Amino acid sequence: MDMINGEKGSSCELLQAQAQVYNCTFNFINSMALKCAVQLGIPDLIINHGLPMTLSQLVTALNILPNKAGSLQRLMRILCYSGFFARQKASEDEQEEEYLLTPASKLLFAKDETLRASPFVMFILDPIMTTPFHFMSTWFQNDDHTVFETAHGKTFWDIAGHEPKFKNVFQEAMSTDSQLISSVVIKDCKGVFKGLNSLVDVGGGKGTMAKAIASAFPHMKCTVFDLPHVVNNLQGTENFEFLGGDMFEAIPYADAILLKWIIHDWGNEESVKILKRCKEAIPSREKGGKVIIIDIVIDELKEDKETILETQLCFDMLMMGLFNTAKERSVEEWKKLFLEAGFTNYKITPILGLRSIIELYP
Ligand SMILES: C[S@@+](CC[C@H](N)C(=O)[O-])C[C@H]1O[C@@H](n2cnc3c(N)ncnc32)[C@H](O)[C@@H]1O
Repeated sequence: MDMINGEKGSSCELLQAQAQVYNCTFNFINSMALKCAVQLGIPDLIINHGLPMTLSQLVTALNILPNKAGSLQRLMRILCYSGFFARQKASEDEQEEEYLLTPASKLLFAKDETLRASPFVMFILDPIMTTPFHFMSTWFQNDDHTVFETAHGKTFWDIAGHEPKFKNVFQEAMSTDSQLISSVVIKDCKGVFKGLNSLVDVGGGKGTMAKAIASAFPHMKCTVFDLPHVVNNLQGTENFEFLGGDMFEAIPYADAILLKWIIHDWGNEESVKILKRCKEAIPSREKGGKVIIIDIVIDELKEDKETILETQLCFDMLMMGLFNTAKERSVEEWKKLFLEAGFTNYKITPILGLRSIIELYP
């Protein structure tokens, strides 16, 4: 019998239930503590210092009023708990602790600026992105197409395409993600590009991914194909070019089409349309044609040691909030799309952390 509904039961169960509710309710504070550390540039300070930093060194470097030193210590404590910093005693006889970077905080302000994760934090935690989540229940009970439109009265692409400040925040987050993923793909998944002489990165944005592929495989002609307002005025190089157009109309011909973080932006109907346009743009399997998809594949049965599944499910809620029918898909859901679009075979390699590489053959 459970105590929660007025029956006999253990207090332990009651208190555990309360802790679970409070824990989930407070998750946003973890996110905001991270955003605060990024805005203050704390990891960057420790990187530039070259050594771990004590609280008093941080207070001085950040130019923080001494009466806020205790608050900074509390901010650092929760960030240590969530794994962004580590702590150690400054010396044997000293009481003061010093803060060290961890791989996650190093990535926030990586020396190679193009790899930094801080633009992604600033994009997802921008009020334009967080506000819609206050309107989710309203949206469930109205007939607006997306939660984003209920909150802002405009679509995501209206704002991300035309509001200059947010457009930059969005493009920078996409670009740093592409830089990181392309460095891993080029290092660990070379085989995916074997035999290809041309590739079109559909929805390739500012071209970060295609540019990296073009310089790693100089014999390959790489084209970034995106909406005209995204690629107009962008300059290519010898084996790398930009082309404006609409992927729902036609996609330029190439040995391979790359779709990174594209299909998850769309519902099943539109996704099948995009995949059909891709199939029309590549040669037969015998002649080396393929579509390379980089996206999430949800596996709810997999052990979730690194909270990968939880993050994938959050991505799914984000997609729902932004675009309604857009979603993260399970293997079965991907397979259904592929078959409907007329593809015969596919190979999923879960090698990119949260995401997988899917090779799709006509
Ligand atoms: C989520 S972003 C992914 C960008 C890039 N592939 C990456 O992973 O960083 C989706 C991209 O699709 C582009 N896009 C949206 N609708 C499009 C269309 N109809 N035709 C071509 N590109 C489109 C957007 O401009 C944007 O650059």
